[in-house]
Amino acid sequence: MTLSQSPAPGDVAEVYDGIGRIYGSAWGPNIHYGYWEDDADDSSVEVATDRLTDLMISGLAARAGERVLDVGCGIGHPALRLVRACDVDVVGISVSHAQVARATALAAAAGLAHRATFQFTDAMDLPFPAGSFDGAWAFESMWHMPDRGQVLGEISRVLRPGGRLAVADVIERGPVSPAGRALLDHICQNYAVRSLGTVDEYRKALAANGFVDVEIRDISDNCSRTLALMADAVDTVRDKLADLVGEAQAASLIDFMRLSAVTPESGYLFLTAVRA
Ligand SMILES: C[S@@+](CC[C@H](N)C(=O)[O-])C[C@H]1O[C@@H](n2cnc3c(N)ncnc32)[C@H](O)[C@@H]1O
Repeated sequence: MTLSQSPAPGDVAEVYDGIGRIYGSAWGPNIHYGYWEDDADDSSVEVATDRLTDLMISGLAARAGERVLDVGCGIGHPALRLVRACDVDVVGISVSHAQVARATALAAAAGLAHRATFQFTDAMDLPFPAGSFDGAWAFESMWHMPDRGQVLGEISRVLRPGGRLAVADVIERGPVSPAGRALLDHICQNYAVRSLGTVDEYRKALAANGFVDVEIRDISDNCSRTLALMADAVDTVRDKLADLVGEAQAASLIDFMRLSAVTPESGYLFLTAVRA
């Protein structure tokens, strides 16, 4: 980690151990967006969030016995689904000690502690040897990274040649109107995000860090229902949120979530790539 790193690991942890924990109590154990097939799809949040995990699982195409790095593991729910689906070993990393503890407990409760381990580690500086993983995913964690290029470089280093990468991330889509800019600024200021990535930025950073066979899908339309539903969910725990951040800030967070739901500048990307 560099001294000027922003957001610092502690900033991210503060979000997830604070408001994030309250959001999670209403949203569920998948700390990510949902994926709906189309407007007629009336899947629940639980089904839609698991479906996005399944998209990541199919993108990763991991084989039994392989070792996968989960960059930004949350409380480990997606990692455990990956272990069950593909019979792989997963090492999950997060910069929240509380998340690492919860993920470790969840894995033990699921009888999967020998297949899924979790540790406090900053993705900007991975403590793993070169080529020590067969696959990696960054599941809605890249938007928090101080330098997405550096993290992709680190992932590239620890992947073996031919290893696969899958990324799901909140992105910025242009052109950005003044209202859209205010919304993106709100995201950065309140959720420990330096800036949102773009499809172009990802293409360049992946190529610069030794990834090939890059496939990028803008799945904003499939994920766009998330924020309105999340605002409804968080509204049910508004009291707890207000206890933590005050009434005015709780209202602002929920209002901005509703606004984001109808703002085209806030989008969602899914990509896969192969380490050359
Ligand atoms: C939106 S949550 C996604 C959690 C999980 N992937 C899921 O889908 O349930 C973002 C995650 O990224 C992690 N994260 C953010 N910055 C990180 C960093 N520099 N190094 C490691 N993990 C980081 C957070 O701690 C959190 O676990």
